[in-house]
Amino acid sequence: MVIKLKQLASLSYLLFVLLIPSVCNAEPVDKKPHIVVLATGGTIAGSGESAVQGEYSSGELSVEDLIKAVPDLQTIADLSGEQISNIGSQDMSKNIWLKLAKRINQLVQKEDVDGIVITHGTDTMEETAYFLHLTLHTQKPVVLVGSMRPATALSSDGPANLFDAVSVAASSAAQARGVMVVMNGHIFSAGDVIKSHTTNVDSFASPSSGPLGSAGHGHVEFTQKTLKKHTYRSDFSINNIKALPSVEIAGGYADPSIKALAAILKTAPDGIIYIGLGNGNIPSNLMPLLTKAQKKGTQIVRTSRSPEGATTKNGEMNDTKTHFIASGSLNAAKSRVLLMLALTKTHDPELIQTYFDTY
Ligand code: DGL
Repeated sequence: MVIKLKQLASLSYLLFVLLIPSVCNAEPVDKKPHIVVLATGGTIAGSGESAVQGEYSSGELSVEDLIKAVPDLQTIADLSGEQISNIGSQDMSKNIWLKLAKRINQLVQKEDVDGIVITHGTDTMEETAYFLHLTLHTQKPVVLVGSMRPATALSSDGPANLFDAVSVAASSAAQARGVMVVMNGHIFSAGDVIKSHTTNVDSFASPSSGPLGSAGHGHVEFTQKTLKKHTYRSDFSINNIKALPSVEIAGGYADPSIKALAAILKTAPDGIIYIGLGNGNIPSNLMPLLTKAQKKGTQIVRTSRSPEGATTKNGEMNDTKTHFIASGSLNAAKSRVLLMLALTKTHDPELIQTYFDTY
C-alpha cells in the first residue's frame, strides 16, 4: 500500500512537470488586440442642445467618453485612450500633425500595441490621414474615424463608425495597408480619400479608385490593395523635425487678377500649390509671377480643380521649361502635405517630381 501511494505521488509529480510548460505557454484564449484610441476632436466628440437642429460644437467629449459610449468595443479589443487635442478639424495645425505622428511612431514600437485609431473632425481628415500615411513607420493598422452627426443628434453615426474603425484596426487583414479612413462602412486609403459631401453621413469617397474595402458588424473585408509607397516604405521622417516648411495654396478660375497671387508670393513661401483648370492649366497672366518665384526658390506644384483624373506633366503647360511639378492624382490639400515633406529633403524640382510620381 505504501509503495502504491509512493508510485501515485511520483506519477502525479511527473504529470505536473509535463503539464506546467504547456499551461504557461498557452495564449489566453480570449486575448484581444490592444488598440490605442488617440482623440483629436471633431463632430464625433461634439454635442449640441437639440437632437434635430444643426447647431453644435465640435470637440466637447473626452476620449474616455467616446470609448465609454460604445460598450461593444470591449468585445473586439482591449482599449486605452489618449487625448492629443480637442478641436474642430478646421483648426488642425502642422504642430498637431507633428505631435500626433511622433506619438504614434512611439506607440507602434510597443509590442503590446496592435493598432491605432484616431478620432478626428471630418473637414481636414484627408490631410491628416495623408500626412500620417507618409510619416508613420509601421505595418500596424492605423485608422482615422469621425462622424457627421454629433453624439447628441438623432441617429448619430459616431458610435457605429468608431466600432467599425476599431474592428479594422484590430484586424490582421489590415496590416501593411498604410493609413486608412473608416467612415459609413467604407475603408479608404489615405492616399486618395476626400471629403466629398458637406453634410451627408456618406461624406467620404475615393473618386478615381474607390474604397479599399468595407467594415460592418465586426466584419472587415478588403477588395483592393494600396499600390503607392507609404508608411513602412516611406522615405520621409519627421522624428527630428520641429517645424514644417511653408506651402500655400492658390486657386484657379477664369480671368483672375494678379493681386491675390502677388500677395501670397510676397510672403516668400517655400512652395505654392496652384489649383489649375482642367489638366492643371494656369492662366497666362499669372505665369510671369510664378516663373519668377520659381527661379527665386519657391517650388510650384500644379494640381487640378477637377475632382477626378491626374494632373499630368507638360500637356498644355511646359513643365520641362518652367520646372513646375505636376501633382499626379493628388488634390491640392494632399499636394501641400507631400510638398512640405519633400522640402524637408530637397529643393530640386526634378527629385520632387519623382516623389509626386511615387507617393
Ligand atoms: N468642424 C468640423 C470638423 O471638426 C465638423 C465636421 C466633422 O467633424 O464632421 O472637422
